[in-house]
Amino acid sequence: MGIVLVALMATLASAQNTSNPIPGGPSFKDFLRFSCSELNIQRIDPLVTPGVVPSPHLHQFVGGNALAPIMDPSLNVSGKATCTTCTYTEDFSNYWTAVLFFKARNGSFHRVPLMGNLGLERQRGGMTVYYTAPYDKKTKVTAFKPGFRMLIGDPGHSVKLPQVLYETIWDTSAFNDGSIWPADGTQPFVFSMGDPTGYGWHGDYMFGWKGDALQRAMDRYCGTDCQVLETQSIEEANMCAEAVVVNEPIDGWLGAMPGGVDVTS
Ligand SMILES: *[C@@H]1O[C@H](CO)[C@@H](O)[C@H](O)[C@H]1NC(C)=O
Ligand SMILES: *[C@@H]1O[C@H](CO)[C@@H](O)[C@H](O)[C@H]1NC(C)=O
Ligand SMILES: *[C@@H]1O[C@H](CO)[C@@H](O)[C@H](O)[C@H]1NC(C)=O
Repeated sequence: MGIVLVALMATLASAQNTSNPIPGGPSFKDFLRFSCSELNIQRIDPLVTPGVVPSPHLHQFVGGNALAPIMDPSLNVSGKATCTTCTYTEDFSNYWTAVLFFKARNGSFHRVPLMGNLGLERQRGGMTVYYTAPYDKKTKVTAFKPGFRMLIGDPGHSVKLPQVLYETIWDTSAFNDGSIWPADGTQPFVFSMGDPTGYGWHGDYMFGWKGDALQRAMDRYCGTDCQVLETQSIEEANMCAEAVVVNEPIDGWLGAMPGGVDVTS
């Protein structure tokens, strides 16, 4: 039980034609799969450092617009949010990950833009979210309840919960020029918490589905086309956004990553 993060570089053409998010696992048609466009990108973290504004490093957020630096478990997320960047309109959850930067030879940093997934190309940044009901299509899963939140690697629970996966695709084409890559031959990509290896990649989740919507989807073992959920078009989802609490430069060439985070070695 936990969040599995599947991070694919857009430079790998094959990654855009995958029918199978978990190698050797079920087809993507077995997953409740949907796009969530960018909500905002800022230095807050309601789970790890609630109320710390700005938080130590940058995150990209998707989902409902009730996101805030402090989100008490008693908060009625689906009652407070008025829109979501996800295509299932009853999903006001928030999903977030670290942000990827390119470090140029001269030491400047540039945020690597995100791109939509196969079939979801029109989404504005963000990520693809997958929920899995049991593949046997028999076992009952119990959807998360209001107040549920999760960090990658949370210990198990006594009831069978859905699995949540995030897939993030970066468009690295703006950084194809080898002359701006590090002179020593090392790779130039680094996460916003300073990690150049990818091992520190993390994803967090704040449940915000309205009413019993997620339970309905799990009871139907919903795949890519879930008739029991209310939907909006990707264009409508793209229009939902939320003003940032922490306003600082995150785009263009930067002398340092937000928060002055150093690249760890
Ligand atoms: C994806 O892969 C399938 C099977 O290999 C192939 O038929 C199809 O043309 C590919 N699609 C794209 C967009 O490359
Ligand atoms: C949350 O808010 C929604 C919309 O106002 C309402 O329908 C629902 O009953 C509320 N849930 C709780 C647990 O208060
Ligand atoms: C660093 O390199 C990038 C890529 O060539 C360039 O666009 C940027 O202006 C440079 N920054 C500085 C401070 O020279």
